[in-house]
Amino acid sequence: MDELLVLKDSFINESSTVTSLSGLQQIRIKYLGKKGIVTAKLKALSSVSTEIRPLYGKTINEIKKFIETELDKKEAELKKEEHKKRVLSEAIDITLPGKYTPPGSEHPINKVLHEITSIFTSMGFEIEEGPEVELDYYNFEALNIPKDHPARDMQDTFYISDDIVLRTHTSPVQVRVMEKRKPPLKIIAPGKVYRCDADVSHTPMFHQVEGFMVDKNIAFSDLKGVLELFIHSIFGPRTPVRFRPSFFPFTEPSAEVDIGCIFCSGKGCRVCKSTGWLEILGSGMINPKVFEFAGYSPDEYSGFAFGMGVERITMLKYSIDDIRLFFENDLRFLNQF
Ligand code: PHE
Repeated sequence: MDELLVLKDSFINESSTVTSLSGLQQIRIKYLGKKGIVTAKLKALSSVSTEIRPLYGKTINEIKKFIETELDKKEAELKKEEHKKRVLSEAIDITLPGKYTPPGSEHPINKVLHEITSIFTSMGFEIEEGPEVELDYYNFEALNIPKDHPARDMQDTFYISDDIVLRTHTSPVQVRVMEKRKPPLKIIAPGKVYRCDADVSHTPMFHQVEGFMVDKNIAFSDLKGVLELFIHSIFGPRTPVRFRPSFFPFTEPSAEVDIGCIFCSGKGCRVCKSTGWLEILGSGMINPKVFEFAGYSPDEYSGFAFGMGVERITMLKYSIDDIRLFFENDLRFLNQF
C-alpha cells in the first residue's frame, strides 16, 4: 500500500513540472500505457493476498482515476497556453503604417517624347525605328553625304569601324523605311543618337524625332502645315513660327524652323541671343538623290523631312538651362515632373 502512495507522489511531482504536451504524453505512457506502472500494478492484482486485495484494488483504481483526471486537466491547460502563445506570435498589428514606396514619375525626356509622338500619330503618322549602331552607308552616304565630304564635319561622329558608326541622327531611318516600303508614307522615327560633343547644351547621347512624308505631289506647304500644327500643339497656339533658309545635304530646299523666343516673347534676351527667335528643328524637301539611293523615282514622288532634338524641346518647354540635368538622376530635379 505504501508503494501505491509513493507512486501517486512521484506522479504528482513529475506532472507538476511538465511544460509541454509531448512531455505530458510521455508521462501518460509511463503511468497508463500498456507497459505503464499503473497498468502493471493492476495486472499484478491477482498476486496480492486476498485480505488486502479489495482495498488494494480500490486504491489503485482511485489512483488511476486521479492520474487520468490530472493528465486531462493538465493537457487542457497546456493546450490553452500553446494556443495563446501561437496567437501572440502570429499577431499582426493592423494599426502600424504600411511600408511606403514612393511613386515614380515619367522622366521629362520620355514625357516630351510621348507628347511629340502622340501629336504626330494623331495626324496619322506611323512610328518606325532604326538601329543605333548604324552603317556609314545609311547614316551618311545614302543621305547624300559622301566619304571625305566636308558636310561630315557638321556632326562629330563616333566611329565603330570604317563602315559602322553610332548614328548621329535619326535621318538614316528615312532610307531604311523607303527601301522596304512604298509610298504613301507618313512616318516618325524617335530614338537615341550619338555625337562626340559635351557641354551645357550637348551630351554624347541625346534623343531625336525624325519625321517624313512621301507621296505624289507633296509640297513645301505640306511641310509648313504639319510643322506649324505640331509647334502650336506643343508650345501653344499663339507661338510665332518662322522658316529660315538653311542647308542639309539630304534636303533641298532646306529650312531651319524657329519659334518666337518663349522667354522674352521676341523682345530679345540672353537665351535667344537678342534675336527674338529660338531654333527648334531642321527640315526640308527630301533631296532627289536620297530617293535614288532608296530606289524611288524622284520624278514620281516628292516628300518632306524634319528632325528635332527632344532634349532641346524639353529644355525650352520647361526652362531648363543645363542639358546634363536630364542624365544626373538627381531626384530633386526629376520629382518636379
Ligand atoms: N538630321 C538633321 C540633324 O540631325 C535634321 C534634319 C532631319 C534636317 C531631316 C532635315 C531633314 O541635324
